[in-house]
Amino acid sequence: MTLATPVSTDVATLNVDGATYELPIIEGTEGERAIDISRLRSSSGLITFDQGYANTGSTLSDITFINGEEGILRYRGYPIEVLAERSTFLETSYLVLHGELPTQEQLDAFTDRITRHSLIHEKIRRMYDAFPLDAHPMAVTSAVVGSLSAFYQDSLDPLDPEQVDISVFRLLAKLPTICAFAFKYAMGQPFNYPRNDLSYSENLLWMMFGVPTEEYRLSEANVRALDTLLILHADHEQNCSTSTMRMVGSSRANIYASAAAAIMALSGPLHGGANQAVLDMLEDIAAVEGSAKAFLEKTKDTNDTTRLMGFGHRVYKNFDPRATILKKHAHEVIEDLGYSPRLLEIALELEELALNDDYYVQRQLYPNVDFYSGIIYEALGVPENGSTPLFALGRMPGWIAHWREHHEEGGRLNRPRQIYTGETTRAYVPIEAR
Ligand code: ACO
Repeated sequence: MTLATPVSTDVATLNVDGATYELPIIEGTEGERAIDISRLRSSSGLITFDQGYANTGSTLSDITFINGEEGILRYRGYPIEVLAERSTFLETSYLVLHGELPTQEQLDAFTDRITRHSLIHEKIRRMYDAFPLDAHPMAVTSAVVGSLSAFYQDSLDPLDPEQVDISVFRLLAKLPTICAFAFKYAMGQPFNYPRNDLSYSENLLWMMFGVPTEEYRLSEANVRALDTLLILHADHEQNCSTSTMRMVGSSRANIYASAAAAIMALSGPLHGGANQAVLDMLEDIAAVEGSAKAFLEKTKDTNDTTRLMGFGHRVYKNFDPRATILKKHAHEVIEDLGYSPRLLEIALELEELALNDDYYVQRQLYPNVDFYSGIIYEALGVPENGSTPLFALGRMPGWIAHWREHHEEGGRLNRPRQIYTGETTRAYVPIEAR
């Protein structure tokens, strides 16, 4: 499949040093317009400069639409609110990967293939023993995902659709097992092997929380809460980890290598690691800071690097629709789970204070998805550092869809340029003369 090239009859005119350059304007299906500068350097010798890529469209994409001003998020045209309410994570994964909602028959076949690939090689299971007990589960998850390329050498060619297909199922199916084993290892508990009689989220909960000494009772509320969180995380267009997945894949590195890199990109506290950072922050306010108000003051102090974690987003400037959905569900989920709402109360107070504070209003800083997701994960019993691997699990369909889209549209090597600001040529000085 090659993406349809957007068409517009408009052009932008650039005047530099007396020369005029005409630059095509392209327009997406939602009316977003962009100046196409892909031939600017060859015609003018100029490149564009955009630190942090805040103003750069790195690709065309059919997968996810975001309107940050209006708080819109849609996967393949379907609003996130509808999917969170009516779909399941596996159905949403199918949609993100294939572009269409599946028929029952297609969904059954998809579910069956994922269910049947969930075991990991026993040699991979033994790799866990090599990690320190206090290793972060993101480090373990990324290392194990990267190691899949050593175990499945028969299916690493990114340009062979059949090999890609089998790798996609392996990755989606084995990731819950890989994440759950990382939790169990950190807790010093025996690993639970996947169970094919359970749904995707049921099986994940069983692998994370089941113990051999008693029967594990699955709660419908837990299963639904987990499935909803995974749906909300399934894709988010060209964010840091997805761009990493595309970037690494653009070198024709295999899908496991690309996914391992994306997991590491997600681990940072400014990205997916923020859900853990939010919990740390709320615990800190409860135990040390004393009041949400005092903490908020620190986040506004320019001499202090403390940030209100779970607030602010590069794209959403009014609200993050995922945070709105989670806020709505947080109370009922927490009630259903019989969890102490202490951290939720602090979070609600912080949110109320920040939304009425000039500093936050002027900078258009609103709660993002991580503001509530960490609390819900904690209510589910997920250890504090375990919420980010679950974010990775939810994001995997999106990463894969983008990786495949990159290859399907011709797959050019991603290689940004730079403006060099270092020394110009210098004479080498021998060490004894320095
Ligand atoms: N707390 C306090 N101040 C903030 C915050 C925050 N959470 N976020 C931004 N600001 C301030 C900055 O200090 C800056 O102020 P200034 O103009 O006076 O210098 C201004 O708002 C703009 O901030 P930038 O960092 O330039 O905005 P950017 O778009 O680069 O950053 C980011 C977005 C990284 C998400 C930022 O808002 C942040 O660090 N948030 C906290 C971490 C977080 O929650 N990350 C999860 C994001 S969602 C996700 O990845 C799943």
